[in-house]
Formats: sequence, structure tokens, C-alpha cells
Amino acid sequence: MPRLSVNINKIATIRNARGGNLPDLLKVAVDIQRFGAQGITVHPRPDERHIRYQDTVNLKTVVTTEYNIEGYPSKEWMDLVLKVKPHQATLVPDPPDAITSNAGWDTVKHQSFLREIIAELKEKKIRTSIFIETNSSHIENAVKTGTDRIELYTESYVKDFSKNKEEAIKPFISAANLADKLGMGINAGHDLNLENLNYFYKNIPNLLEVSIGHALISDALYYGLENTVQLYLRQLK
Ligand code: PXP
Repeated sequence: MPRLSVNINKIATIRNARGGNLPDLLKVAVDIQRFGAQGITVHPRPDERHIRYQDTVNLKTVVTTEYNIEGYPSKEWMDLVLKVKPHQATLVPDPPDAITSNAGWDTVKHQSFLREIIAELKEKKIRTSIFIETNSSHIENAVKTGTDRIELYTESYVKDFSKNKEEAIKPFISAANLADKLGMGINAGHDLNLENLNYFYKNIPNLLEVSIGHALISDALYYGLENTVQLYLRQLK
């Protein structure tokens, strides 16, 4: 069964709206794990509009499952990640002002940059994953960066799912098979939700982890956090 890593950026967004400590990000992280999630993901951005750099440090003391920090590997982000030493670092090529991650890495163009960053992270025994689209050349070149895993960017799957799910999943099956053949582990994320998650998982049997934030936290408004985590876990069985 793949791990469910819950992205808690949105909890920080709500907290920051009032300037106090409600909701308490650390308590939410503890509870999400108590409710069964096998990981916590955060994406600190340079403007700290949701997760603050200090949050990533504080979370390290309460994440007892798997801690995943994602983001663009700027100097500040690298300093932070090398200090916090999460279990996994997910590299994302998004510009600082992006609303959310909106593209995967071009592993041809950025190969030497990624190779250097990944070597630095692996030296500290931090597992690496790079956010990537299904393009076969990008996957073939991902292995040359030395990354342990790739995270498949699932936005296109989600967008096409309601029109034709058999077609929508095809490029992801090919990408997952290729990555598997090349010896890289497979994570996935972006826009996954209660409607499309199970079909994705059923078709990508070597899936190791999904990282889900926006839809899960939104569903929690209706179903409650504990029920929602359970509902997502059920999709991965
Ligand atoms: N993976 C990456 C690399 C992301 O940047 C995000 C969003 O922060 C996610 C997964 C989760 O996406 P969503 O919030 O749509 O579930």
C-alpha cells in the first residue's frame, strides 16, 4: 500500500490569516498521523505565505512517520533542508511567486544543477525525489541526476480523468514502468482527490507514496479530519 503523506500547507494558510496560532499546525500534524496518515509534507516558500521556515524546524520534533519537505532548491531552501534533515526532499522547479507547483523538471536542461543538489542532500542521508511530468526523455534523464525517486505530477491525469480515465492514465502507466525499469521509486501528487485516487493507485502498482493537500483539507471541512484521512487511506487499499 502506498504511503499517504498529507500536505499541511493549507493549515498554515488558515493560521496565518489571523496572525495567532489557530489552528495549531503542530497539533494538526500530530493528529493527522494519529488518524493513520503515514507522512507529513510541507512546501515552505520564500515569502512564507503558508509554511514558515520555522514551522519546518518545529515539525521535525513531532513528525514520527515520514517527513517530506518540498520546494525549489534555492540557497535558503537547501540550508533549511540540510539543517532539518527530513526523511525526503522533493525538488520542485516552481518560481517563488507560483500559486502552486505548475510544472515538472526539465531533467535535460537542469541535469547538472539537479545532480549537484541531489548529491548534497544524499550526503546528509536525505532521500530525494524530483517532481516530473510523464515525458519519457525527462524520465530517462532523471536517473542521471542520481535521484532516488520521481514524483509524477498528476495534474494532467486529474484534468482528463472525468473525460476519459483510460486515456488519462496511459502516460502515467508508461512513465511508471520506465521509472521502475530504471530503478527509481515512484511517488505522485497534485490535485489527487477522493474521486480519482483509487483508479490511479490501481493502475500504478509500484506507487510508493502520494502527497495530497488541497482536496484532503477541503474535504475535511465536510467530513472532519479523522474521517477524511480514513477515506483517503481506504482509496489506497
Ligand atoms: N506535490 C507537489 C510537488 C506539490 O507542490 C503539491 C502542492 O503543494 C502537491 C504534491 C499536493 O498537491 P495538492 O495540494 O493539489 O494535493
